[in-house]
Amino acid sequence: MTGALLISSVSAQAEISEQKAIDLARKIYFRMTGTPLREGALREQMSTLVRQEKFVEAAELASQSPGFINNTMRLFSSSMNNQSQNTRDITLTESMAYIMLIARENRPFSDILTGRDFPTINGQGTDCFDPTTGVRCDLSNATTLGSSTANRTVASQVPNNVASGIYTMRGFGNAAFMAGTNRRALQQTFNQLFCLSNENMKSDISDISYIGRDVSRAPDGDPTTSGAFEQECRKCHSVMDGLRGAFAFMDADGGGQLTYRANGQDNGVAAKYSRAADVYPDGYRTVDDRWEVTFDRDPAMMAKLGWPSGMLGGNGVASFATAISETRQFYACMVQKVIDTVCPNDPNNKEKGKGYMLDPTVVLPPIVTKFKENRNIRDVFAEIVVRPECLGR
Ligand code: HEC
Repeated sequence: MTGALLISSVSAQAEISEQKAIDLARKIYFRMTGTPLREGALREQMSTLVRQEKFVEAAELASQSPGFINNTMRLFSSSMNNQSQNTRDITLTESMAYIMLIARENRPFSDILTGRDFPTINGQGTDCFDPTTGVRCDLSNATTLGSSTANRTVASQVPNNVASGIYTMRGFGNAAFMAGTNRRALQQTFNQLFCLSNENMKSDISDISYIGRDVSRAPDGDPTTSGAFEQECRKCHSVMDGLRGAFAFMDADGGGQLTYRANGQDNGVAAKYSRAADVYPDGYRTVDDRWEVTFDRDPAMMAKLGWPSGMLGGNGVASFATAISETRQFYACMVQKVIDTVCPNDPNNKEKGKGYMLDPTVVLPPIVTKFKENRNIRDVFAEIVVRPECLGR
């Protein structure tokens, strides 16, 4: 008698009631699409899957709705595509539309770095917004957002054979290459594609021989090991300046066009690479688009990035972007961005630090490993959004 009672109460607890299933389906749907789940066939299908504890399947179903691309992917990709690195800056850019396209088509997500095509928007102009009606166009629709490999005449002047995903598109590209010294392209790579702060770009022991001529070796007047150059400048610039050659032919003009081998001196190297060369004339002079990993002698840095040991140098932006697409940290960072997008932070977990809601040593590594293998961003969303820690189920 007691035993039977116990069993029935256990199974009653494990079973998801109809109302609870509808509530969970609505929560999953809203987080996946940014829109409410209305009564109807889809709600029926999703809550049935939830009752069968097929949570991931329910989330995959939600991802077929236009809101997944138009709202969620737009928000997810926003900070990667503007100089402020602000997630609230959702102004549509070329690189953002490309990320949305890759997600919609279930293409390998590494294409955002290495793809040779570019997005095309038919209809309401490149901003995909009709100011008279206030309506945004539907980028989940394949006739509106398409792809082309035809030579670009408007989007940028980067030739197709060196095109390399968002690195050679407006949006990410403008933020990376406008003015400056193209080091910002690396800052963006670290901050936005590795989710690492500038402080985390530092290596104490990487090779300093590629540091540019514009970086003072004695900014405080002290060229010894106790000086600011040794204590600060070299730690970032040794890492960045070795890689910066990858973008030597890249520039962005004031009008938002990307250029390649334009305004160049030195065999096409952008003029900005020789800016302030008199600060330290013995520094590294960029003469081509060669890039070198200078931190291969720093095992901690190599491990932190999960940098592929067979890709320690190359020529040009496309080979650089390929190396980034082979790092583990790129995939870890994208998983983190998915968490930021669909998994609200629990204030009770705040003291454990950002992202710790999903255990970074137990829960996340298998998700990252799987993503690096199958490269499907939609699957990562579906897996993360239904995690018990996120959904509160
Ligand atoms: C925490 C990492 C870091 C440290 C430390 C650092 N830098 Fe930089 N530096 C950067 C980044 C990132 C950029 C590119 C910024 C941009 O273009 O927006 C940059 C750009 C520069 C530039 C080019 C400025 C321009 O006009 O675009 C010079 C020169 C420079 N740094 C010198 C120094 C000197 C000298 C020190 C030491 C006193 C130093 N940096 C320390 C990260 C660092």
